Amino acid sequence: MQSIQKAENEIEEGMKGKDFLTLSEFSTEEIQYLLKEAVEMKKLQKQGIPHEELKGKVLGMIFEKSSTRTRISFEIAMLQLGGHALFLSSKDIQLGRGETIEDTAQVLAGYLDGVMIRTFGHETIERFAEASSIPVINGLTDTHHPAQILADLLTIMEHKGELSGLKAAYFGDGNNVAHSLIEGAAKVGMHFTIACPLGYEPDEAILSKAKEVGKETGAVINVTEDPFDAVKNADVLITDVWASMGQEDEQEEREGVFEPYQVNKELCINANENYIFMHCLPAYRGEEVTGDIIDGPHSVVFQEAENRLHAQKALLKLLLKS
Ligand code: CP
Ligand code: NVA
Repeated sequence: MQSIQKAENEIEEGMKGKDFLTLSEFSTEEIQYLLKEAVEMKKLQKQGIPHEELKGKVLGMIFEKSSTRTRISFEIAMLQLGGHALFLSSKDIQLGRGETIEDTAQVLAGYLDGVMIRTFGHETIERFAEASSIPVINGLTDTHHPAQILADLLTIMEHKGELSGLKAAYFGDGNNVAHSLIEGAAKVGMHFTIACPLGYEPDEAILSKAKEVGKETGAVINVTEDPFDAVKNADVLITDVWASMGQEDEQEEREGVFEPYQVNKELCINANENYIFMHCLPAYRGEEVTGDIIDGPHSVVFQEAENRLHAQKALLKLLLKS
């Protein structure tokens, strides 16, 4: 018992003040501990028990792209933890007029206890974190969406109990959500197959690193062009939009390329009987998923969206606590 407590204290100490840019920078134990804390956060909130762990702390939230879930869940998370969140549109702060990332990061570190950023290139958030002395949290970049995947893992756990040994399949673009799923699945020992068209595969470096991690945790990570190959015996089916934010000009072209990867009845019939369907949202019915699936009995998308709040409270508590 004492040694479990000691190990947990060590994890907490190790996470304090850390940036949260990708899941690959966190150990299996840290991710499992985050999920355990998320379960606790959800319980406390549901039971109406106060949990103001971040009283007086302030999180700045810089958005260079639109958001419903990320903005609202991070803001409410800080509120329920006894702190405060500031919404900072990059259009309204001097960053949007050419003030450097490094100057902005150092100025904000003088006022805030943490910063959450949603931006385009991942190197922007890396530069920001490098210049900042306070924790920087990734609220989505073109290549990663780790906060989403914490909520996804929590949701899968709630439905399936264990993560290790499960089989998850993703259909669509090998970009931000897929990359963070690959990294998260590898860390928790969940098998993960991504079905995507040629030319839209996940990043080779992310993939090979995850495969290495999988050798330790038992997770088998695969990429295939055939969605029917990926769906076989899958417990969890996941998809995402065909054209991500910033790719609006490619919408028409992508509709043609991704059509065979639509999650529909014909595909899902090949999954495990008790499969769950997940989507980070926003979703476009009739494109990446049909209405009967996302609004059907296997879909857990709204629970997944709610879990953003609980998972991020655990994250904020661990990173921002004094
Ligand atoms: N899933 C997600 O990040 O949603 P928003 O774009 O609404 O924040
Ligand atoms: N891949 C999507 C995720 C939205 C939450 C995008 O980047 O737009």
